[in-house]
Amino acid sequence: MTPQKELLANKVAIITGAGRGIGKATAKLFARAGAAVVLASRTPAEITAVAEEIKADGGQALAIPTDVTNQNSIDQLMMLSLRAFRHVDILVNNAAIIHPVGRVWEVDPVAWEHLIRTNFIGAFLCARAILPHMLDRGDGHIINVTSGAAYSDIVGMSAYCASKAALDRFTTILAQEVAHTNIVVCGMSPGATDTPMQTEIRNTSKNALPLVDYFRQRFEEGSLTSPEEAARLNLWLAIRNDQNGVIAPISDKSIRDELAKLPL
Ligand SMILES: NC(=O)c1ccc[n+]([C@@H]2O[C@H](COP(=O)([O-])OP(=O)(O)OC[C@H]3O[C@@H](n4cnc5c(N)ncnc54)[C@H](OP(=O)(O)O)[C@@H]3O)[C@@H](O)[C@H]2O)c1
Repeated sequence: MTPQKELLANKVAIITGAGRGIGKATAKLFARAGAAVVLASRTPAEITAVAEEIKADGGQALAIPTDVTNQNSIDQLMMLSLRAFRHVDILVNNAAIIHPVGRVWEVDPVAWEHLIRTNFIGAFLCARAILPHMLDRGDGHIINVTSGAAYSDIVGMSAYCASKAALDRFTTILAQEVAHTNIVVCGMSPGATDTPMQTEIRNTSKNALPLVDYFRQRFEEGSLTSPEEAARLNLWLAIRNDQNGVIAPISDKSIRDELAKLPL
């Protein structure tokens, strides 16, 4: 076995939102590190294509169409993952949406609530669904993909910022609740990353999102995080046992120095 493949050898990882962006890059990297990966999102064609890519590269992957806002869909995800691989070691709660963007009095309340359900409640439901299994084994990693938006006042993004702030608090509290076990619950904050979500942000009107020029400029100057770099931070968190309760930002230089040491 190559040193890379040893990093996550015999591990099984569920990654939500694995059809594109950071989730896709994470699935591919985890598979290269030796994990069997379960790809979960709402668009079967995207997760199936990623799974095929991973298998063509010699990895193990299973695509399970999933909507993280739906309890039955999550139950099915956990059941099929356990049936296929017998255990689940890592859950990456990565699935998220960015819209609605706009002032509070202008946005559709149903869409606002749907964002909270996707980005925050979805992570809670997925964690809650896999925790009995992890508690039985006394081991596991739950990585919640959060954002600097958790502590930034981005006008027009009340739903997204609120969802990530809630996710941060959920992460640190759950970490304390499992502190008597070897389960690690942590957050990963990738910074503005070059994914389809950023394209959606750049395509938003300045009226809805006054800060849109900042995001357009970050893209034009090439200073966005790459999905692959964000995936490396997920990998770094997944192989460490000393990050319980930590929200790890990619902007932290000491973290970037650690990532440079990874053999992948
Ligand atoms: N990109 C950035 O600048 C940035 C910055 C900070 C944090 N983040 C965070 O990083 C994570 C990944 O973002 P990204 O930029 O890679 O996003 P992305 O390119 O928009 O991809 C999002 C993924 O989530 C899935 N998804 C959305 N709703 C879902 C649902 N209800 N059930 C299951 N899957 C669902 C999407 O697939 P379907 O639509 O097919 O379901 C897609 O695979 C998110 O948590 C995001 O908040 C991103």
